[in-house]
Formats: sequence, C-alpha cells, structure tokens
Amino acid sequence: MIRSVSKDVVSVGVLDWDRRLFDELIPLPKGTSYNSYIIKGSAKTALIDTVDPTKTGELLDNIREAGIKQIDYIISHHAEQDHSGSIPKVLEMFPAAKVVTNARCKSMLIDLMPSLKEDNFQVINDGDTISLGNKNLEFIFAPWVHWPETMCTYLKEDKVLFTCDFLGSHLAQSELFAVDEPMVYESAKRYYAEIMMPFRTSINTHLERLKEYQIEMIAPSHGPVYKKPKFIMDAYADWASDKVKNEVVVPFVSMHGSTRKMVDHFVGKLMEKGIIVKPFNLTQTDIGQLAEAMVDAATIVLGCPTVLVGPHPSIAHAAFLANALRPKTRFLSVIGSFGWGGKMLDQLSAMIPNLKVEVLSPVIIKGFPKEADIKALDVLAETIVTKHGTLGLK
Ligand code: FEO
Repeated sequence: MIRSVSKDVVSVGVLDWDRRLFDELIPLPKGTSYNSYIIKGSAKTALIDTVDPTKTGELLDNIREAGIKQIDYIISHHAEQDHSGSIPKVLEMFPAAKVVTNARCKSMLIDLMPSLKEDNFQVINDGDTISLGNKNLEFIFAPWVHWPETMCTYLKEDKVLFTCDFLGSHLAQSELFAVDEPMVYESAKRYYAEIMMPFRTSINTHLERLKEYQIEMIAPSHGPVYKKPKFIMDAYADWASDKVKNEVVVPFVSMHGSTRKMVDHFVGKLMEKGIIVKPFNLTQTDIGQLAEAMVDAATIVLGCPTVLVGPHPSIAHAAFLANALRPKTRFLSVIGSFGWGGKMLDQLSAMIPNLKVEVLSPVIIKGFPKEADIKALDVLAETIVTKHGTLGLK
C-alpha cells in the first residue's frame, strides 16, 4: 500500500499495527510505523530510510507498486535496524544503488549488517547536497537524537524535512498525515519521553538550527507526517525547554497497604493545594505512561516499601528508568514504609546520580502510618508547594 505525500514523494513505508513492545522494553499501545519515502527526481530516485526487517517484504512490494524501476540512492539517516534492517534486501533489488550516509552511520551499518560492503556506500558530510535532477537533497547532521550518527534530509524544492526518529511517534493510524492533533501530540510526547528526553541539550541545538530552513512539511520515519511543522516543533521546544510544570509524579508500590495509605493521603493533600498529581501504581502502569509524565513534572516522589532490606524492585526499576531518561525534574523525595529496618533510602539514592534534583526530606516510617507520620507527609506536601512557588509555578 503506497500513498502520495506530495507530487514527487511517495510513502512506501509499512504500518505495524500489532507491535506492542519496542527494544523489548518500550510499550507501544498504538503500534507503530516504519516510514520510508521515495523521492522521484527528473534524473535520479532516492529512497529515504527503509523498514524493520520483519516488514521487508511489504516495503519491496510497495516499491514495486510505486512503479520504481531504479533507485540510485538509499538515504540512511540512522543505523538502528527498524530503519536500516531492509537495506540489504533493497540493495539486492537495486544493486547499483548507493547507501548515502555519514561516516559514523556507515561504520555502524557495516557492524550491524556485515553483508554491506564499503563500495555500497557514498559518504556525505554535514551540509552536503546531492542532486536528483530537478530536486536537491541537503543533509543536516543531527547527532544524538537519539544515537550519535543520526541525521536529517531536507528536500529543498518541496521544503520537506525528513527527520527519521526525531519528531516522530510510535503510532499506527490509517491517515498518512497528523490529523487528530491531540492523539498525535500524546503519542509524540510519549515517544519523546522514551527515546529523546536524555538528549534535551542536543535537541535544543538542532531545533535552533532548523529555524534556518523553510519547512512546509516534516516527514519522520515513525508515525504520521506533519503538514503543520510548527505543531511538532513547538511541542518539542516546550518539552526540551527548562520549563517545568506544577506537577508531582508519584510512582509507587504497596505490599500490605502501609505505603498505599501514605500515597493516598499525600496525593490528596497535594490535590487540595492545587498541584497536579500523577500517581502510578507500578503493578499496573506501563513505563511509557510514567516516562511521559516525567517530561515536565517539577517533582517526583517515589512511594516505596522496603523488601529484603532494599527498595521494592518495581520502584528500583522506576528509579533506574528515571536516571536513564534524565527528566528536567527539579525536586525528588521518597515516602514509604518498612517492617524491621533496611537500607532502602541509601540504595535508591545511589541509583539516581544523573538526576540534577534537590532532594526533599523523605518520609520513611515503620509499619502502618500513624498521626505523626501523616503530619510528616503534610509537611512534605507543604514543602513541595513552597519549592514550586520559588519557581513561579501555579
Ligand atoms: Fe526508530 Fe532509533 O530507531
């Protein structure tokens, strides 16, 4: 199934409606797509990215359906296999095609797919262009969104920017374009949280550089194509900015109800004070939801019982995830209960060296919460209100 992006750009990518996990880690509640595009110039034809190797057959069928008899260039923006994995089969179909990419990506592609050889490649540098006749492609290096070799391609005449993972979303939908903006926003934010958030600084640099280009359409390699580039560029600028929101994320687990009682009281107290609270019971929450909530929350409070002298493994997982995703969170605390002692707090603290947060006094209690413990939770809630106030959050 092929679709027209514009007069000379055809979508030959593939929807993956059923996929529910990426990297054996990231939940995909709405599936995903591996977008690939044919650009037809008057002299030459380029293919922008390929698809996951599980979908190679569909890609090749789509290329045939588009009536393509020759591909001169396979533009490879990123070596990860969901975009590169079909390159060897495309080369079997079009042996004269050159894989056009940067030196770092070339090296990674050869590492990942040893059937690729040096002479399959045409290496380009940042700012280089290639001509398809009446159309010209400019390569814009955008490292660390989210691997070191990532880059974009700008189709000058059509003002289309191809961004691969950058600005994309894990979303399978029948529409080629981003029509249902609230749904696309949600999927793109979740995608940003899971993939891009650790690279905020790079993302801000790339967003700034892209202001030099007149962009009328953004065609990522996952999710719908944006006819309103401002929609996704503004969203990224907001997510990647230093601004946090008057929100507290509370990932928690409770084994016998004590930590749950603390969380319920604490969440209610914050709500009374007008703070948006997002509690996540980690026995039921998918980590994508948690990651998305961490994109702009000012504070994270872990609700953690003690298991075998340490933190509950589900909370340890959440802490490890937060440390890897490096949200811009400003404050962090821990509430929870223990039965007979332990080193839960020490072990959790050691797990989050990447988080540049001010740690607010934790509330760790013995057994079921008593009156004094409830008061301590109220003090923590009040402290959070005050700290958010210092940031001007309302
Ligand atoms: Fe969609 Fe980093 O691959």
